[in-house]
Amino acid sequence: MATIPSSSSFLLFLTIAILINFFLHTHSTTHWQDVQVLKQLKSTINPSLIPQSSCIDSWDFSLDPCDNIFKDKFTCGFRCDVVVDSLSRVTELALDSPGYSGSLSSVSFNLPYLQNLDLSNNNFTGSLPGSLSLLIRLNRLGFSRNSLSGPVPDSVGSLLTLQELYLDNNMLTGEIPLSFNGLKNLKRLEIQGNGFGGGFPELTQLGNLNFLDASDNGFSGGLPENLPPSLIELVMRNNQLEGNIPVGVLGLSSLQVVDLSHNKLNGSVPAGLFAHPSLEQLTLSYNQFGWVQVPADSGLSSQLISVDLSNNEIRGFLPGFMGLMPRLSALALENNKFSGLIPTQYIVKVSDSGTGMGMAQFERLLLGGNYLYGPIPGQFLDLKPDSITVRLGDNCLYRCPLRLFFCEGGVQKSLMECRAFGPIIP
Ligand SMILES: *[C@@H]1O[C@H](CO)[C@@H](O)[C@H](O)[C@H]1NC(C)=O
Ligand SMILES: *[C@@H]1O[C@H](CO)[C@@H](O)[C@H](O)[C@H]1NC(C)=O
Repeated sequence: MATIPSSSSFLLFLTIAILINFFLHTHSTTHWQDVQVLKQLKSTINPSLIPQSSCIDSWDFSLDPCDNIFKDKFTCGFRCDVVVDSLSRVTELALDSPGYSGSLSSVSFNLPYLQNLDLSNNNFTGSLPGSLSLLIRLNRLGFSRNSLSGPVPDSVGSLLTLQELYLDNNMLTGEIPLSFNGLKNLKRLEIQGNGFGGGFPELTQLGNLNFLDASDNGFSGGLPENLPPSLIELVMRNNQLEGNIPVGVLGLSSLQVVDLSHNKLNGSVPAGLFAHPSLEQLTLSYNQFGWVQVPADSGLSSQLISVDLSNNEIRGFLPGFMGLMPRLSALALENNKFSGLIPTQYIVKVSDSGTGMGMAQFERLLLGGNYLYGPIPGQFLDLKPDSITVRLGDNCLYRCPLRLFFCEGGVQKSLMECRAFGPIIP
């Protein structure tokens, strides 16, 4: 009699052991720490701004997140990977964007396996939490288009594995910390559309940075003498930058796009930009540049496709060498103080005759708002408005009747105004 209960309890034990084993091998449980962070994130979001059937709405913590992901509960918003045995870690946290609102400043981002954090296009507020530095495996951080404010904590610079950082279009302020030099693997940095100010730091340690957009902020002082040497796109439109373009910029040998428009840069546009081995797009409009330097090889080696120097204070004759740049098809020199005749090199490049030797034709040639004089070149009279955009309005040209499409955009200046600018204007 006594042996029966003992053997049945042994059987019961065996059954439970098998069941537990079964459970462990078909189910993955989320590491408790990661559950805490998900719960914390959900609880910080204003419940009235969690629409039905949004990701966050489906997060039901009576169940295990990773074990129920993509089912009725936890329908979206994150990804898990089994790390050891059947223990799951959150490796991606990428929310939908129905306009979640709530402060991120008290969320503790203790997710050591997270590779991608994307909360873009919502209305998250508060300052960036220092706990972001706990994301030791993070590749991509996307906080674009929210309402985050305050300064960027120094600790963000400790994210050694980070490759892409998007803080654009928030209300962040203060300076970019020098600690950013610690982001050794960063390839893309987007901080445009914030209230950042002060001098832009020398980020020379970012040996992998290809893309920098710091537009629409309040950065002041000069451009840094030294920029990340791997830069392909340098975009710092609409800031308060002043002074000259430093020599260091010309040494960035991989550059393809430079946009420094809407600043207060002055001095001359350096020749090195027109002899650069890879630069394709140069936009320096709305600055205070006074001169254009002529490169030693007259631009023959230039890779530039588009040059925009409009709305500066550039004097002298039009830079004829730009008509020799083999790939250039868009040239904007409007609203400067250029004088003289329209150069032959430009005339050749607007007409088919110049395209024989692999030379690109102009598709856009904007010269309005200067003090150009002389007659309209005869070749221009054959141009068709649907094949090219040319603007010659508001100059000192000898007759530019508005019925010619390229004369539109402002009648020619009065003889008095033209003579007052340059007595030699005929
Ligand atoms: C953020 O909130 C503002 C008003 O507070 C609203 O107009 C806007 O649409 C919201 N943005 C998103 C992405 O939901
Ligand atoms: C350029 O601007 C700087 C600072 O704004 C000023 O000190 C300098 O005189 C200016 N140079 C020229 C050539 O206008």
